[in-house]
Amino acid sequence: MEKAKFIPLEFEKIETETEQIRRAEAFYENLNRRRTVREFSAESVPFEIIESAILTAGTAPSGANMQPWRFVVVQSPEVKKQIREAAEKEEFESYNKRMSDKWLRRLAPLGTDENKPFLEIAPYLIVVFRITSIIENDESEPTYYSQESVGIAVGMLLAALHNAGLATLTHTPSPMKFLQEILDRPKNEIPFVLIPVGYPAENAKVPDIRRKSLEEIMQIV
Ligand SMILES: Cc1cc2nc3c(=O)[nH]c(=O)nc-3n(C[C@H](O)[C@H](O)[C@H](O)COP(=O)(O)O)c2cc1C
Repeated sequence: MEKAKFIPLEFEKIETETEQIRRAEAFYENLNRRRTVREFSAESVPFEIIESAILTAGTAPSGANMQPWRFVVVQSPEVKKQIREAAEKEEFESYNKRMSDKWLRRLAPLGTDENKPFLEIAPYLIVVFRITSIIENDESEPTYYSQESVGIAVGMLLAALHNAGLATLTHTPSPMKFLQEILDRPKNEIPFVLIPVGYPAENAKVPDIRRKSLEEIMQIV
């Protein structure tokens, strides 16, 4: 059993409560401007932003510190085309056969359908995989709380990309097994989410939907 080793925590206390509150509110205001974008521009974006955002995602907490994530960055037009074709095939089945009426009713205000041109237009697709197990000393071991861990990392990735002035779409063309095949990932890496990243198209529109209020989402005991 490896023994725990400790180092001093790097922690800088923010001097005043006023400054703390200002920062908290500014962060909220910034993130409140994030919207899921479905109309992208083909304009290129600095690769350094993609790298920094993935590094940020990699700072997420994870069950037993297993960091059970892989971020595959797709920039090749040929691979993007393959992903679009496979996604549209699955999405056609989903929208026309697999989704319940209740689900379709929920999606109606978003105006989505099986057409996914953004998968070829956006300069980058970040495909996030969840690593379900690892091999150590010839033995397989599950990663612990991998769903929760990867979910948190994706949230941080979306926030980092938004903070750097880029638009994202959280896309889950279900089932997503085709991503494992096209991107040649091993069986223990399960596709989690597909994120087109770039600038929004000029005059891009987003659904007119509302966020729940604080009273609706917070309970104080
Ligand atoms: C887990 C998850 C899966 C999603 N899958 C899709 C998707 O496949 N296609 C899509 O257009 N939007 C997808 N979305 C985006 C949601 O529709 C969007 O976040 C929601 O409508 C709220 O809009 P906002 O992100 O602009 O606040 C997904 C979001 C999440 C969190």
